[in-house]
Amino acid sequence: MAKVLVATDKPFAKVAVDGIRKIVEGAGFELALLEKYTDKADLLKAVADVDAIIVRSDIISADVVEAAKNLKVVVRAGAGYDNLDLAACTAKGVVAMNTPGQNSNAVAELALGMMIYMARNQFTPVAGTEIKGKRLGIHAYGNVGKLVASHAKGFGMEIYAFDPFVKKEDMEKDGVNVVASVEELYAVSDYLSLHIPANDKTKKSIGYDLLTKMPKGATLINTARKEVIDEEGMMKALEERTDLKYASDIAADTHAALVDKFGVRVFATPKKMGAQTSEANVNAGLAAANQIVNFIKNGDRTFQVNK
Ligand code: 3PG
Repeated sequence: MAKVLVATDKPFAKVAVDGIRKIVEGAGFELALLEKYTDKADLLKAVADVDAIIVRSDIISADVVEAAKNLKVVVRAGAGYDNLDLAACTAKGVVAMNTPGQNSNAVAELALGMMIYMARNQFTPVAGTEIKGKRLGIHAYGNVGKLVASHAKGFGMEIYAFDPFVKKEDMEKDGVNVVASVEELYAVSDYLSLHIPANDKTKKSIGYDLLTKMPKGATLINTARKEVIDEEGMMKALEERTDLKYASDIAADTHAALVDKFGVRVFATPKKMGAQTSEANVNAGLAAANQIVNFIKNGDRTFQVNK
């Protein structure tokens, strides 16, 4: 009987775990749960005899893959798979997958919420501003970026986007103004919502040069990954441009120093909250469970990311 492990440092909502159990056990497999673990040794022990693993942002490094002697498939229940060591998976013949689109709306709603929170000076009594009529730049027009654009239109924002991997016509069909370069996007955006993945090309790619191109009073909203920010460059930009703001869904490494220096101009959620809704947990968790069952039973590799 195949054994499926759900290893989540930040657990899914109970309704999602119940749904995953139904799918896994309904397929005749066994389900094991490892939640809120604080010690990597617990993860290494839990993976020892499993055929499949479902994770969120949990780090599946080479030693975890090595310790999982029977592992055939690992599914990141979510979009970004920078937490999976793909080379290690490939070397051991393990299929790695993600569940694109399943938690996008939750992340998009958080991005909008953060914009309003920052516009109102983190709900301090100082008079804030409105997001209506402001220009919103979407950096990467994937599943989340597209939803942020659509929700923001309802608030009366003017939408701009840059994404070299999406056809201009497709963005224009959504009523989005397509710009020709990243630099142009930052230069027009009163709010800039980041949706790029963290990889070798994007890490530390957003820093001083781009931030100082932004209009007066601009805010960078980061619900993507902290690793894409050049924190030294951002610190310098926030020091020079006392009108700029930064809000992120997971604190920068230098968060304490940033808050110390810049107060309500900087905000970070205490733990990554973007995908933390019941709906997103159910969508991503159940998709992951179904993908595992379909892979083990039928060899279905849709959503494989280590091709
Ligand atoms: C994702 O890449 O899907 C999001 O960052 C959500 O991450 P989480 O599942 O750890 O909340």
